[in-house]
Amino acid sequence: MKILVTGGAGFIGSHTVLALLESNYEVVVLDNLCNSTYVAIERVEALTGKNISFIHGDINCSNTLQQLFAEYDIGAVLHFAALKAVGESVQYPYKYYENNVSGTLCLLQAMHYADVNMFIFSSSATVYGETSVVPYTESLALGSPSSPYGASKVMIERMLADSAIAHPNFQAISLRYFNPIGAHPSGVIGEDPKGIPNNLMPYITQVAVGRRKKLSIFGNDYPTKDGTCRRDYIHVVDLAEGHVKALDWLQKQTEFSGVEAFNLGTGTPVSVLEMVDTFIVETGQNVPYEFSPRRSGDLPEFWADSSKAQKELGWQTQLTLTDMVIDTWRWQKNNPNGYE
Ligand code: NAD
Ligand code: WQD
Repeated sequence: MKILVTGGAGFIGSHTVLALLESNYEVVVLDNLCNSTYVAIERVEALTGKNISFIHGDINCSNTLQQLFAEYDIGAVLHFAALKAVGESVQYPYKYYENNVSGTLCLLQAMHYADVNMFIFSSSATVYGETSVVPYTESLALGSPSSPYGASKVMIERMLADSAIAHPNFQAISLRYFNPIGAHPSGVIGEDPKGIPNNLMPYITQVAVGRRKKLSIFGNDYPTKDGTCRRDYIHVVDLAEGHVKALDWLQKQTEFSGVEAFNLGTGTPVSVLEMVDTFIVETGQNVPYEFSPRRSGDLPEFWADSSKAQKELGWQTQLTLTDMVIDTWRWQKNNPNGYE
């Protein structure tokens, strides 16, 4: 039985493919490379000494999916493929609904016709919306995220719930990631955003490596202890391991049908200033920064209650904030221009 990983060439997908191979799963990757490169796949092959079946294709193409499910004996699908830039989604909502929502619908239909019933979805803390109390627990109702990107994740979670009602064999997990950062400790694979990074960590490392002049810290007047926003940053290697645990868990379920959501976070919020300070102290690099106005849509603080994942999946984070900054810096220093 093989595992189909959509979006497996991307940041989280490539680390998860590596973790799956290390756990002796056989992997087929489907990726249209719209935000990634095949080099990431080659590097995972080199790190593990294992082959990855790669299909350069789109989750929105029913023919590709039909052929793929006919050719490979797929037992479960890990679905990472999505567009993820929050600001861009506000500007181009149709692009996001088409790629993320229609794409997932197309994938779920193809799985249904091929009788593939195990599904693990890359969801996000954004599904809790703007008014949930912290820490976020899975028992909270889905919220109303302010961006089409966030809305696409809520819509897909809804689609999974409806699939489970209609198809009793369907077994799905939504993994709600908090703020994934870090890189594999080899420094060989990592996050390589195209253009100006939207997220904090890649921006910090691009300043440190000299690709950008200074970091703008969006807002220092939030109701937090140092005035900057606090987030639950999680090492991508811990996150990847969470997928392996989720897959192991799904395979052990004999009775379970439906959808189960799990938060994947550390449970400890870190402010923007704390992140910048930790990076400077741990790497010895200078990161010039200035305070600038708040970014629209940012919440002051949120973090995960991940006790459900600990209890049910036997998963908890192992790596520290220091590991996160050191590993990200190793990747950036060794690959100043990413995979180029
Ligand atoms: P990424 O952009 O690095 O990876 C996504 C991959 O999907 C890329 O390789 C891209 O080429 C591929 N892809 C996109 N649309 C596709 C399509 N239509 N067909 C085939 N391939 C397609 O992003 P990531 O950070 O690795 O995120 C992976 C998943 O995790 C996404 O679903 C994202 O929404 C979710 N997520 C990410 C974060 C984060 O901060 N990185 C947080 C929460 C959830
Ligand atoms: C973190 C903090 C910024 C950049 C986003 C998505 C979320 C999820 C994870 C996918 C905030 C501040 C940032 C910069 C800054 N993705 N910041 N200067 O916004 O918590 O979450 O990524 O599902 O859905 O919204 O992460 O890394 O963008 O920001 O001051 O140049 O860093 O204001 O407080 P965010 P982020």
